[in-house]
Amino acid sequence: MVTTPYYIYDTQLLRDTLESIKRAVAEMPDTYVHYAVKACTNPKVLQIIREAGFGIDCVSGGEIMAVRQAGFEPKGIMFAGVGKADWEIELGIDEGILCFAVESIPELEVINEIATSKGKIADVCLRINPNVGAHTHANIVTGLSENKFGINMDDMMNVISLCEQLPGINFHGLHFHIGSQILEMDDFKALCRRINELQDKLDCAGIHPEIIDVGGGLGIDYEHPEQHPIPDFDSYFNVFKQTLKLRKGQKLHFELGRAIVGQCGRLITKVLYVKKSGAKQFAIVDAGFTDLIRPALYGARHKIVNISNTGDDLETYDVVGPICESSDVFDKDVRLSRTKRGDLLAILSAGAYGEIMASQYNCRRLPQGYTTDELK
Ligand code: LLP
Repeated sequence: MVTTPYYIYDTQLLRDTLESIKRAVAEMPDTYVHYAVKACTNPKVLQIIREAGFGIDCVSGGEIMAVRQAGFEPKGIMFAGVGKADWEIELGIDEGILCFAVESIPELEVINEIATSKGKIADVCLRINPNVGAHTHANIVTGLSENKFGINMDDMMNVISLCEQLPGINFHGLHFHIGSQILEMDDFKALCRRINELQDKLDCAGIHPEIIDVGGGLGIDYEHPEQHPIPDFDSYFNVFKQTLKLRKGQKLHFELGRAIVGQCGRLITKVLYVKKSGAKQFAIVDAGFTDLIRPALYGARHKIVNISNTGDDLETYDVVGPICESSDVFDKDVRLSRTKRGDLLAILSAGAYGEIMASQYNCRRLPQGYTTDELK
């Protein structure tokens, strides 16, 4: 039996989104799109993405295991992450993944040690911190030199030379990721220009990376999801097509998470009580920040609709969860059709970083995830 709160993923929208990406990159030679699996690991969602032929971006051993179980090929796995544990590195090497995105010299040395002890050579990209800002929430900016991610640009040449000296390391390319929920195409242009500068430097030294991985970060329209169910992939990929100067034979990799699954998922929750308190009206629902933490953690706003009453008898509510913390609020002053106990509300654009970030605080049950194929 399906009980609230639960996630539901629109498989048709997911397929259409994947097709739209494939169309947008069809004219771009040697271009590979990896799905950043951290956004959502729902097995049915993974299956559809695998069938569409996408690679994977992982940031943990657990994610590598999840995608292997879902049938993704190891040769399509890019493995990033600032703190890879030894067992995770071993797993990556044993599985024969495409590449490690290495974020520091100590990490490079450990990968070398583990690879040589196994008589293997690990393919690595160096994750360079390009010191390019992104116009997004401070918690999800990653490409500034003050952030913990990547290798400082000024150290790039030295680290590449180190790669050449380490017997268990094969330098494969450069990796970047400047942040998430980015809607300003200029931010991606700035990244491209920075990569061009770095490549000019490498040309002078006769170094030719085989891979340029530009990460992910393309945002979605949380405010008007119905108008923009599929992100503007043409504009996004055009930025790279027009601004990034790739060298002959170089492969371009993307790692998109939110833009692929964000609009495909919604969280369905039941109204437990409608409580009036002074001038306020609260819709107290059975989902809490344990089910969708983005509003509490980032102040993120997700559109909320009453799917039991779609009339135009609008009233204003604060939509709040049952968890014993004041931050357990999905949104304030939401205009909803008149809402009563038992109504179902849909919290939209929750396909990315929703179900996967759920917790069991307050000993709550984890929300279940279904697809539209299962719940007709
Ligand atoms: N590649 C790397 C190395 C990443 O760290 C990430 C996301 C991505 C790709 C995919 O980024 P996307 O295309 O989804 O923006 N929990 C936050 C988002 C955290 C993103 C972390 N890294 C949220 O709910 O907004």
